[in-house]
Formats: sequence, C-alpha cells, structure tokens
Amino acid sequence: MGIFNEIVERRNTRSLKWDRLEFVYGVEDGSDILPMWVADMDFAAPEPVIAAMKERLEHPVFGYSYICDGCKDAVQKWHVDRHNWQIEKDWILFHQGVVPAIATVVETFTTQDDAILVTSPVYPPFFNVPKFQERKLIECVMKEENGVYSIDFDAFEKCLQDNVKLFILCNPHNPGGIVWSEDELKEMVRLCAKYDVLILSDEIHADLVFPGHKHIPLATIAGEENDRIITCVAPTKTFNIAGVQIAMMIASNPEIREKLRQNAMAHGQMEPNAFAAAALKAAYEEGAPWLEQLLEVVSSNMDYIIETLPAAVPGVKITKPQGTYLLWIDYRGTGLSEEEMMKRLLTKGKLALEPGTKYGEAGRGFLRMNVATTRSQVEDGVKRFIAAMK
Ligand SMILES: Cc1ncc(COP(=O)(O)O)c(C=O)c1O
Repeated sequence: MGIFNEIVERRNTRSLKWDRLEFVYGVEDGSDILPMWVADMDFAAPEPVIAAMKERLEHPVFGYSYICDGCKDAVQKWHVDRHNWQIEKDWILFHQGVVPAIATVVETFTTQDDAILVTSPVYPPFFNVPKFQERKLIECVMKEENGVYSIDFDAFEKCLQDNVKLFILCNPHNPGGIVWSEDELKEMVRLCAKYDVLILSDEIHADLVFPGHKHIPLATIAGEENDRIITCVAPTKTFNIAGVQIAMMIASNPEIREKLRQNAMAHGQMEPNAFAAAALKAAYEEGAPWLEQLLEVVSSNMDYIIETLPAAVPGVKITKPQGTYLLWIDYRGTGLSEEEMMKRLLTKGKLALEPGTKYGEAGRGFLRMNVATTRSQVEDGVKRFIAAMK
C-alpha cells in the first residue's frame, strides 16, 4: 500500500518520537532504539495536505492569517459525512491543540476550589493540566475485563458528588481503545446533568475507529444537555499532522463560547498559523481515501502483533482495541515490575514503549505501543520485545 510501506527516515528532523529518546527515557544513546511510543505516525501525511502546505509556502509572505469560511465549511462537511453531526459554523472556536484547549476549558470553567473528574487510565494531560492549575483531581478507575474497559457508574456517580465541576471524557478512549456506546454516553450525560457538571469531550481519536464500531459524538446524543458540552476535535491525529498544531472547541451554548472567547483575549491568543489552516482544509476535503487505507494498515498491524507477541511471550495479553492506533499490552501475567519491564525493553530490546503508569496508577502492568508504522518496523518491534524477555 504505497506510502504505508515506505520507511520515512525521521531521525534528525526534530522529531519528538525519534530524536528525544535520551531526554524522555533517560538513556545514554537512543540512536539504536526503535520508538513506538508517542502518538504520531511514521507515515507521510496525505498528498493533498502536503500540496496545500507547499502552495502556502510558495507564497513568500507569511503575515497574519485567519481561518477562512472555506475551512469552516470543510470542518462542517467532514463531521456531517463521517459522524452524522451537524455543527453550526458559529459553534466552532479554533485553538492550537486539544491539550491547550483542555487547559483553556479548565481555566475558564473551574476554580481552585473545584474538582475535575477523569476516568483512568487515561491520556496524561487529563491529569497534568488540572494538577498544574492546582485543581483537585478525582479519578474514577474504570473496570477492566479481558482487556475491555467500562465505567462503573455507581462509582462514577459517587465521584461526581465530590464538588466536581468538570468531567473530562476521552471519546474514543486513549489508552483503552474503547469507542463508547450510546448507552454509556447517555448515562454519563444523565449523571453529569444531575450534578450540574460540565463535560469536555475530547474526540481527537474519533476518525480512527475500525469497522464494526461507530464513534458517536457526545453532543449528538445529549439532547438538551448539549448546552453543557464542549467537544474538542482536530484533524491532527487523524492525518498525522500533530506538529502543525490546530484543534477546535465546539460548543452550541453561546454563553460558553463567550467565556472561551474572553479567555482567549485574556491570553492574547491569536488565530492558528497559516500552514495549519491550509492543512486542515485539505485534510478534511481530500484526506478520506488516505484515512481508509490507514485504518486497514493499522488494523492489520494490530492483528499481526496480537497473533505473534502473546504466543512468544508467556504472560502477555493483548485485546484488539475498537479504535486508535495504540495497543494496550497487558503484561501482568509476566510478574515483572514496571521498572524491570522498562529496563528490559530499553536495554535488551532497544524498544521504547510507554509505561502504563504514565496513564495513572490504574495503568500499572500495561504498556502502550504505537503501531502506526510500516509492517517491517512492526515486525522489528515484536522481535525486540521478544528479545527483551529472553
Ligand atoms: C486523547 C488525546 N487528546 C489530545 C491529544 C493531543 O492533542 P493536541 O496535539 O492537539 O494537543 C492526544 C494525543 O495523543 C490524545 O491522545
């Protein structure tokens, strides 16, 4: 499959994934380590996205720019076609990224006396952003059965009673790979409404869902409660343009949007950069065929790892996720501590995966592996894992 078989040399490109291993993993020399950690892909972005950025680059003036109406049309059309979600143009506020958007929402809608609820294990900034803003964090640890996570709604409701003002939802879920069902989403909405809690639904992984599963934007099932939902979406994870930095906060409630706008003014926040606007428009207008191929490649990489790795390493279990390009590997059966596992992977295997506790204490005994890379690198990764365990 063309570009999905091509190894693109990424070292010495200021790549966080490939060039920062010494810093991130504390190793002396990362040059022989295969990185399968942070969530960006090793594939070239869709050709129309590259062409749109080149076209912008060829114009030699890089003055201030703004998000044109055509960009908003592209956002609208993508969400209707793909997710059956009719977004009004007015509802869209642009930001540099989903994590900065989370920070903005936390700052705008909570105070230091308030608590913020997350369901763990979960993407680290869900913990870190509230902690750095000195908010109280409440973790509802998810139930895990045979590698599939679900929410214990009794525990969830108890957590909400603890002065929670904001629930940050990961939909689909990173690292669990769960595409939440309509019933689950409705229950979250119902309980948050009962306790007057605002919901931030981070839907950055929405497009990365495998056949047989369907992403449901929270806002589409919330009915009147849509008024208390802010959804974050972006083309960056879907089309591998995270370094370009752009995201959207979508809120149907005008009061919420006004507060977000005031916060942006308070921070002197500008429109996204000229390349981000060009990339976003091209990605949403012309990126779909690339995405279809990507999903096949990722799914097949996952099948390959699930067939080979647990068979070769006793004590390792992997359940295929419903979405994302991230495998959540359960190694509790090996009896190894996280420290020992990471040491083996890095020094014997020369393989960089993410330790589960980066996603909270609930992630202990798991590793996160990014499989959005060529099959040959995936095979290499499996070999390295096996070598680390000998
Ligand atoms: C759930 C989730 N939200 C947000 C991000 C990052 O968003 P951004 O790069 O737009 O800040 C990631 C990246 O992996 C993610 O998994």
